[in-house]
Formats: sequence, C-alpha cells, structure tokens
Amino acid sequence: MVDQQLIRFTLDRARVKPEPMGSVQLVDWPEPVVRVQTLSENGLATIPAHYIKPHADRPSLSAGLDGAASIPVVDLEDSDGGGAAAVAEACREWGFFQVVNHGVDRGLVERAVEVWRAFFRLPLEEKQAYANSPATYEGYGSRLGVDKGAILDWGDYFFLHLLPEKLKSPEKWPAMPTHCRQTVQEYGDELLKLCKRLMKLLSISSGLDVDRLPEAFGGDDVGATLRVNYYPKCPQPELALGLSAHSDPGGITVLLADDAVKGLQVRKGDRWVTVQPVPGAFIVNVGDQIQILTNAIYKSVEHRVVVNAEKERLSLAFFYNPKSDMAMGPVAELVTADRPAMYPAMTFDEYRLFIRSKGPKGKSQVKSHQKYDSLRPIMQPPCVRA
Ligand code: OGA
Ligand code: NI
Repeated sequence: MVDQQLIRFTLDRARVKPEPMGSVQLVDWPEPVVRVQTLSENGLATIPAHYIKPHADRPSLSAGLDGAASIPVVDLEDSDGGGAAAVAEACREWGFFQVVNHGVDRGLVERAVEVWRAFFRLPLEEKQAYANSPATYEGYGSRLGVDKGAILDWGDYFFLHLLPEKLKSPEKWPAMPTHCRQTVQEYGDELLKLCKRLMKLLSISSGLDVDRLPEAFGGDDVGATLRVNYYPKCPQPELALGLSAHSDPGGITVLLADDAVKGLQVRKGDRWVTVQPVPGAFIVNVGDQIQILTNAIYKSVEHRVVVNAEKERLSLAFFYNPKSDMAMGPVAELVTADRPAMYPAMTFDEYRLFIRSKGPKGKSQVKSHQKYDSLRPIMQPPCVRA
C-alpha cells in the first residue's frame, strides 16, 4: 500500500532542484538527544516509552533459529565466474548474501572493529565532541529522522563520508583512539575495491555487460559512507528494535557483523529470518538504487536489527552509492514491452532526503517512487512522475 504522504514527499523532492547537501531545512533534532548507551549503562529495568515499538513491529526473537533457510554464501574465488550464478540467485531470492574469499585482510578487519569498540568505550563527553545534526548526519548520532515524538531505535552510531573526496572530512572522524582515522581510511579503501568487484559481478549476473552497472553508477565518481552501529544491551529486547525495518537507499551495502552476537533479520515473504554470520565473511545486500537500475529484477530487501539483554553488538555498514547528482532510472537493456520501466529517473541526492527526514520506514520510499503496482502494466496513470 502506497502512503499518500510519502508520495507527496517524493513528488515534492522530485520537483525541486537538488540543493547542496546540508542546505535543506534539516538543521536540528526535534528533541534533546539521549544516548542509548547512557540509558543502557544506567541499568534501567524497563525502557522509556518512546523506545517501545507498536505490537506489529515488535521482534520475533526466535526467528530463523529453528534451522530454517538462511541467506546464501557466495565464494568470490568460485571457479564459476566468481560466483555470478550464485549472486543472481541470491539477489532474486533474498536481496542478501554473505561473501567469503573476499580478499580483505582479516587483520585489517579486526583492527577496524577494535578502533570502533574503543571509540564507543570513551567517556560520553569525548564522544559528544562529534555529536551530529540532521543536516549531514556526519558524526555521533542516536536517531534517524526528525519527526518529533517518533518511537526511536535502541542504538547509537557514527556516520562518515569516504567519497566523494569533496565530502570527506577526516577532522570530523574520531581522533581517539589513536589510529582510528588511519584505520578507517585503510578499511574504506579495501571495501571500495570489494564493492567495485561486486558491482561488476552484479552487472554480469543480471545479464548486462560487465561495466554497465559500474558506469550507470557514475564510473569513478561514486559515493561511499560508513555507518558504525552500536547496539547496547537492552533490558526489554522483546519491545524494541536496534534498527527499524528499512531497505538501504543506496547501491550496495557491505556489512561486517559481529559473528558472536546475532541481530540482523532479513524479510523473507511475511517472515523475518535471523542471519547467522559466517566467521570472516561480509554480509552484502543490494540497495534501492540497484533495484531501480535493474528494473526490479534484483530487489532491495527489508531488514532490521533486534537487540538482546546479555550482549552489546557492533556492526560496520559500508554503503557504496551512485554519483549523487546524476538522474538514475532502469537501464535500457532491462526495459522491455513486457517489463516497462518501473521507476522514473531521480538523483540519489533527491532520493535520500526522504530517509534523512523520515527515518527508516520499511520499503515505503522505493514503493512511493514506483510507477506501477506490479510488473504487469496497469491502465492507470503512474502514481509518481519525476
Ligand atoms: C544498516 C543496517 C544492520 C546491522 O546500517 O543499514 O542494516 O546489523 N545494519 O547493524
Ligand atoms: Ni540497512
């Protein structure tokens, strides 16, 4: 069901010329920011009311723990074209897969996790020096979206830009622990290489020329950001979510998840399946821009994070995004008479404003952007035009 308010928002955004990031009206949070880590460390027995999700959104903490199917594992050194067939199947069926033999040095990965654990262990005052605002979201944050009175997620995060160079501000990255900035850069460089490989694989696996999707993303002018998610222990995990259901707005997300503490759940039909991380693997998912470019052959699937009472959890989400001011629509090769273009072209700058002001809202953004309700062309005007 497409929400009228969301359609109007998307339409409005589609009409305005993209403004430089930060000059939109998202200047400050609607309420004082409270760090979830502080609430957790205060040892509350019950969580404040504005973290309690409505019944329908509350987590099923046992989902997928009964030996049910889980997201596929793809070996990037596979002799069959580096896993192209497995990727095609995974992107159609799940929108998610884990990659092994990905070539990123394990020592670097461990160092990246360690600097971020150390950052979140710093005293609150030191972290507050990096407090973020909704203008760019860069820095230390505790909410997504600026709706006053919203039900919040049980998690803090640190968000930063790696690309394009003009948006990169290492002085906004943590100066402590020592080596944090250098490690973030090294980790970002390696993840960028991995994403370039993955983009080629997505291109081939969807039946396109190897460079078709990389070029549609803007060639070398791509964007990349890192969000480090920190989910403190929660005394009532059955009432809250670490991160509400959403699909990722960008291109590809490469997630490094704690392999000792589960938390990520992926939507499969009307069920939520808990991902069992394979040690040493990355979890990859396609975002809304890949769904749009592939004309929905590949789906950006909803996912969410559940929390628990015993253990905190840390994850590093690396987002690989298209050049942000280039209009993107389905690639011509994947548009046919039987399968007309499902989405109008829109730039990523316009697109992500939605999430930045509304917070995670399931798949409502990509749905409100969709022209048709199903793949069968329908005889009514598209609900959204760019
Ligand atoms: C995200 C995300 C999942 C996790 O940051 O977009 O989905 O396990 N994270 O933290
Ligand atoms: Ni996500």
